[in-house]
Amino acid sequence: MVVRGEFPAWLQGTLLRNGPAKFDIGSTTVNHWFDGLAMLHRFEFGGGNVTYTNRFLRSEAFTESIAEGQLALGGFATDPCRTLFQRVASVFSPHYTDNGNVNIDVFGGATVALTETTLPVRFDPQTLATMGQAPISADVGGQLSIAHPHHDKSRGCRFSYVVKFGPHSHYRLFAIPDDGSPERVIAEMPVDKPAYMHSFAMTERYLILTEFPIVVDPLKLLLALSPFIRNYEWQPERGLRFHVFDKDTGELIATRSAKAAFAFHHINAFEDGDNLQIDASVYDDPTIIDQLYLAPLRAGETIAAIGRPIRFTLALDHDAPVTSTVIADEMLELPRMDYDRCAGRPYRYMWGAGQSPGGSFLDSIVRVDVAKGETSRWFAEGCFPGEPVFVSRPGADQEGEGVLLSVVLDAIKGTSSLLLLDARTLSEIARAECPHKIPFGLHGNFYPDA
Ligand SMILES: [Fe+2]
Repeated sequence: MVVRGEFPAWLQGTLLRNGPAKFDIGSTTVNHWFDGLAMLHRFEFGGGNVTYTNRFLRSEAFTESIAEGQLALGGFATDPCRTLFQRVASVFSPHYTDNGNVNIDVFGGATVALTETTLPVRFDPQTLATMGQAPISADVGGQLSIAHPHHDKSRGCRFSYVVKFGPHSHYRLFAIPDDGSPERVIAEMPVDKPAYMHSFAMTERYLILTEFPIVVDPLKLLLALSPFIRNYEWQPERGLRFHVFDKDTGELIATRSAKAAFAFHHINAFEDGDNLQIDASVYDDPTIIDQLYLAPLRAGETIAAIGRPIRFTLALDHDAPVTSTVIADEMLELPRMDYDRCAGRPYRYMWGAGQSPGGSFLDSIVRVDVAKGETSRWFAEGCFPGEPVFVSRPGADQEGEGVLLSVVLDAIKGTSSLLLLDARTLSEIARAECPHKIPFGLHGNFYPDA
């Protein structure tokens, strides 16, 4: 990559990213952005240089799809053309998709690519070579999970959740110990109509499932007459429900309600006296899912609005409706914060890919001072940045002291760059230019050299 500016000497490590990248398979095209086959991206930083490599994740979904010339395993909004008999499978069959195209994490020392099933796929973080499935254990079970587990440094584990569909469906929260010992179930909660939840919230003591009123009758998934997400129904009259679980005992501490809303991403959450503060990038309803179908995206249709940073305040000591306040008058998605320092704790700053007023998609990088509601923006004409990953400067004693890494598509030049911004000022420090486009990705993380 051609470097402009100067990458700091302390930035030594690897940014691993993930996202859907192959949408045309044989003579077919997947329906939705979230159904593209996963591509892993690797940016290595050291000595002021940046190298970039990518590789398709050789999941079973990838291999079978290439062989069949169509998406072989049911995805988010695309289902292969099958007979009714074959359809009675989908999420109830052990043969659901492992197209890990959403995020990257480290489970018990193994680097994995994640989608929203219980089939993480291992890969080599150096070569990006696929090493096979690393399924969530049978003790945890379930068919659906999330690509946004939380890491709890003090407890030495990650937390995640699954939905176990069946005659009696359940949400099940579980822990993935960092030392590689077996996963363990923390809590279980029966549910008639499970909600679509892309992430959840964590504080120092609690795990919070935010149950958006986009829910599914498990029988519909069993019959699988429609692609996965099409079986879910928006039922705003249910409102929003927050289920608060104790991390250590698994006890359901509280369930609280709010006006209907939808979100993909929680930003952070923390305990505040007898209250919980839960921040997310929030939509009025889930129509954003429809706007991310491939046909309107390829036709260049504009996305009217993306999420706004909203704070939900939930009383733990008495049953009262949850209140919501606008953190800042901005639209932003793919939110990040100083996770190592602030996950589950009071915090001051968030960053996200923003949509500027009158803009049509993620066209800027936004920094929000959560306490003051003040924002600042990085913007360049014709450029579309992805998720800004915060990297703390070694030895930093202040929150937000470090840099942001974001892959930016320059639609005018038809190339992509890895952009390095000062996380405080959003001023550009350096960029590494790639001679070609890099598919717009979803999520990733920076791993410093040991
Ligand atoms: Fe996500």
